[in-house]
Amino acid sequence: MTWLVTGGAGYIGAHVVRRLQADGYPVVVLDDLSTGDPGRVPDDVPLVEAAVTDRRAVGRVLREHRVGGVVHLAARKSPAESVARPNWYHRENVGGVAALLDAMSGAGVRRLVFSSSAAVYGVPAGSVVNERTPAAPINPYGRTKLAGERLIRTAGGADGLSWLALRYFNVVGAAAPRLADRVPANLVPIVFAALAAGVPVTVTGADYPTRDGTGVRDYVHVLDVADAHAAAVRRLCTGPPTARVLNVGTGRGYSVLDVLSRIGAVTARPVPYRIGPRRPGDPPEVIADPTLIGRQLGWRAAHDLTDMVASAWLAWSTPPVPATPG
Ligand SMILES: NC(=O)c1ccc[n+]([C@@H]2O[C@H](COP(=O)([O-])OP(=O)(O)OC[C@H]3O[C@@H](n4cnc5c(N)ncnc54)[C@H](O)[C@@H]3O)[C@@H](O)[C@H]2O)c1
Repeated sequence: MTWLVTGGAGYIGAHVVRRLQADGYPVVVLDDLSTGDPGRVPDDVPLVEAAVTDRRAVGRVLREHRVGGVVHLAARKSPAESVARPNWYHRENVGGVAALLDAMSGAGVRRLVFSSSAAVYGVPAGSVVNERTPAAPINPYGRTKLAGERLIRTAGGADGLSWLALRYFNVVGAAAPRLADRVPANLVPIVFAALAAGVPVTVTGADYPTRDGTGVRDYVHVLDVADAHAAAVRRLCTGPPTARVLNVGTGRGYSVLDVLSRIGAVTARPVPYRIGPRRPGDPPEVIADPTLIGRQLGWRAAHDLTDMVASAWLAWSTPPVPATPG
């Protein structure tokens, strides 16, 4: 059965494409290349350059490639940018889900894995969150992810869709230099960029009620995230119809200072930092309870923080080769 991966030229999508290929699924990628890199798409995977908001283009891909299921990753992902451009985020992220669901309905495609995010939890009352923790996103990005989940639940019910929404926590690491996350929007690439520029990292807040005062997050290796997609796809291909939201995290939390010290150990250079003010709306501590995905899909994270940082550093510090091995 062929799987369409939207956003397959992106950081996480490119890892998912390779993981699905390794399981023997034919894959086709749809990506508008706005932040993606065509060099991340293996040579033997067709790449259709189109926007997921273009219902007709998506419908054509579904029919021409006889697609049986979709992994939908294509989206805008910056909370800060979403605050500046909320309407655009809504159009791209929620409009993307709506157009995709229309196209799937028209083509009779009934399996969907959706990229959601821990951003839907906002600032939770407790530090460990499970799927029953009330969703209360605090920025437009998180709201678009929650709206996407809700749209899928509603439309999926009407269309007999079998679906899983994966709420990823903080994704780190890379399988190869070409696949690295080079956008300094998340902590690890921000630190690497600061090291390269020879400037100290600004730690945003050291007065949180956490063990060292800095924010605590659940970091998960991109290879584990790709494995979670493979497990989700397997479940949708072989099990009875399902409709669930699942956390994708390790269940362990690391503070910003823990991450800086691990990066220092891996790169053999101490990471200079200075303490800055808190970022508005940043929760002190958010850690996944991954029990449900373990029970439903048999998935649990296999990689630890050292694996994540070491693979990210290796990828970051090695120039990408021009051609991507398939
Ligand atoms: N990186 C993380 O830590 C993280 C955490 C939680 C959720 N997510 C979600 O995972 C998904 C992938 O994130 P990523 O980190 O790989 O980001 P990315 O920017 O590297 O990848 C997104 C890909 O989608 C494409 N794209 C964006 N909008 C599109 C559109 N309208 N039509 C077609 N293609 C489009 C981009 O060109 C890019 O290739 C996103 O949905 C993001 O919200 C990421």
